[in-house]
Amino acid sequence: MRWRPSILPRLLLLVVQFVALCSIPGAFSSRLVTLDTIDIFTTHEWFSSKPTVFFRCSGDNQTNLPDVKEANLIYTFKGEESWQPLTELPEKKCKRCGLYEEDMFRNDVFDEWELCSSDFKDGKYIHFKEGQFNATLLCPNCTVSAGDAAAHHPSSEVETKKTSVAVIIIVSVLASVIIVLALFGGYKYWLRKKRERDQLRFLKLFEEGDDMDDELGLSNEL
Ligand SMILES: *[C@@H]1O[C@H](CO)[C@@H](O)[C@H](O)[C@H]1NC(C)=O
Ligand SMILES: *[C@@H]1O[C@H](CO)[C@@H](O)[C@H](O)[C@H]1NC(C)=O
Ligand SMILES: *[C@@H]1O[C@H](CO)[C@@H](O)[C@H](O)[C@H]1NC(C)=O
Repeated sequence: MRWRPSILPRLLLLVVQFVALCSIPGAFSSRLVTLDTIDIFTTHEWFSSKPTVFFRCSGDNQTNLPDVKEANLIYTFKGEESWQPLTELPEKKCKRCGLYEEDMFRNDVFDEWELCSSDFKDGKYIHFKEGQFNATLLCPNCTVSAGDAAAHHPSSEVETKKTSVAVIIIVSVLASVIIVLALFGGYKYWLRKKRERDQLRFLKLFEEGDDMDDELGLSNEL
C-alpha cells in the first residue's frame, strides 16, 4: 500500500460531518403538532346547537375539528385523523394560534395564544382556558430538538446521551483508523528508509572491501 497523505483531510472532513449530523438531531426533524384530546366547556352558538370548531395559527390554513360538536365531552384523537397535524412549529419561534368557533357574522374566540416548541414537556402540552376549553397537544420532536436539550426532561436527556455515545463511538473508530493508517504509513516509510540505508551501507561495504582488496592485493583469492 502506498501511503497517500490526501486521505487524511478527507477522513477528517468525514468525522466533522458525522459530528455535525449527530449532535443536532433537532435540526432535521419537523415539529408537527397534533391534537390529542380536547374538551370544550361552552359553545358560543345561540341558535344552532352544532358548532363548527376550528384551530388556526397565523400564516396557516384553518383546521376544522369536524368531530367536536358537544360541550363538556372529552374528545380523544389518534393523531392520524385526516385534518391532523394542526400545525408545524419553527425551531426558535412561536406561532400565534387559536381555537375558534365559526359564526355567521364574526368568529367566536375560545382562546388565542403563543404556541412555542419550548412549551412542550416530553412532547406534551396542555392548554387550559377557564370556562372555554382544555386541550392536550402533542409534538414529540419539539422536546428532542434544539441545543437546549433541557436537563429536566428525562426522555430528551436519554436521547442526547444516546447521540453522544454514538458520536463518541464513531469518532473513536475513525480516529483509530487514522492512527492505524498513520502508523502503517510511518512503518512503511521507516522500512523504505531502512532498506535504502542498508543498501547504502552494503554498497559502501563493497566499495571499502574493494579498496581493501586492492590495497592488500587479495582480490585474486576471493
Ligand atoms: C419528527 O421528525 C422526523 C424527522 O424529520 C419526521 O420524520 C417525523 O415525522 C417527525 N415527527 C413528528 C411527530 O413531527
Ligand atoms: C393552504 O391551503 C391551500 C389550498 O388547500 C394550499 O395550497 C396551501 O399550501 C395551504 N397553506 C398552508 C400554509 O398550509
Ligand atoms: C385537561 O385535560 C387533561 C387531559 O385530559 C387532564 O389531565 C387535565 O386534568 C385537564 N385539566 C383541567 C383543568 O381540566
